[in-house]
Amino acid sequence: MNHQLLKGKRGIIFGALNSSSIAWHVAEKCHEAGASFVLTNAPIALRMGEINGLAEKCNAQIIPADVTSESDMENLIDQSMEILGGKIDFILHSVGMSLNVRKGKPYTDLNYDFMHKTLDISAISFHRLMQICYKKDAVSEWGSIVGLTYIAAQRTFPDYSEMAEAKSLLESIARSFGYHYGVRNKVRVNTISQSPTMTTAGSGVSGFDAFFNYAESLSPLGNAPAEACADYCVAMFSDLTRYVTQQNLFHDGGFSSTGVSTEVMAKFASE
Ligand SMILES: NC(=O)c1ccc[n+]([C@@H]2O[C@H](COP(=O)([O-])OP(=O)(O)OC[C@H]3O[C@@H](n4cnc5c(N)ncnc54)[C@H](O)[C@@H]3O)[C@@H](O)[C@H]2O)c1
Repeated sequence: MNHQLLKGKRGIIFGALNSSSIAWHVAEKCHEAGASFVLTNAPIALRMGEINGLAEKCNAQIIPADVTSESDMENLIDQSMEILGGKIDFILHSVGMSLNVRKGKPYTDLNYDFMHKTLDISAISFHRLMQICYKKDAVSEWGSIVGLTYIAAQRTFPDYSEMAEAKSLLESIARSFGYHYGVRNKVRVNTISQSPTMTTAGSGVSGFDAFFNYAESLSPLGNAPAEACADYCVAMFSDLTRYVTQQNLFHDGGFSSTGVSTEVMAKFASE
């Protein structure tokens, strides 16, 4: 299906928690496309053990790393290059977590210690990852780094809470680091803005079902499923997209460009 687009390429994939995770699908598609890669997640997430099946299927090793720990991340990059036998060609950052949402704190009553942690896990970790790679010169020329984001970075979705700020920061880091990494090593950095998707992180947002159905009825193509997001990631990791960088790429079935759909209008039409 993916025509060995990634044959000979080495990668690191963050964030495969279970079979609904977007990163899980990306790993499966990258494997199909001929890549070799390392899987990583927070030690606590690895304890659940679901990732072992994926690793076996993809012939991948698992390296634990908490994205907020500099030493974990340094170790991840060093070990990945050793295991894979050279510099890294592609990286997927598929990591997000809001402590305030998890603890039920409303947006107008945020706990700032939680908020710092949210921003660190969900956004600053993208900078940390790239800074470590940059200093170690760990990414090949024309390498591709992708982070996953959501349109709440541009528009207000009240239940998305502080994750909106986290995603704005993540997208900004992609633009800024994309400049520096492009100039020095021709490494490209982009974010993919994905439709609402039924995953552990997704369904943590309250009212997610309504949110999902609304986006489905507004998008001309419907919500983009996780498998299709994975295909898009493969395209972005491949040599066919070499001049795409510093972009926030909407992968949302047309949601971001649509003001209203006839389906949504029909729901509000008076008899
Ligand atoms: N599901 C959606 O609706 C949706 C839509 C757009 C974007 N996204 C983004 O896609 C990405 C992946 O989310 P998902 O929906 O697949 O959910 P998921 O819950 O499967 O993935 C989130 C991952 O982040 C990992 N993580 C959390 N804290 C970590 C830490 N400190 N160190 C390392 N890893 C840590 C979790 O273990 C998990 O694997 C996230 O950035 C999310 O915001 C999701």
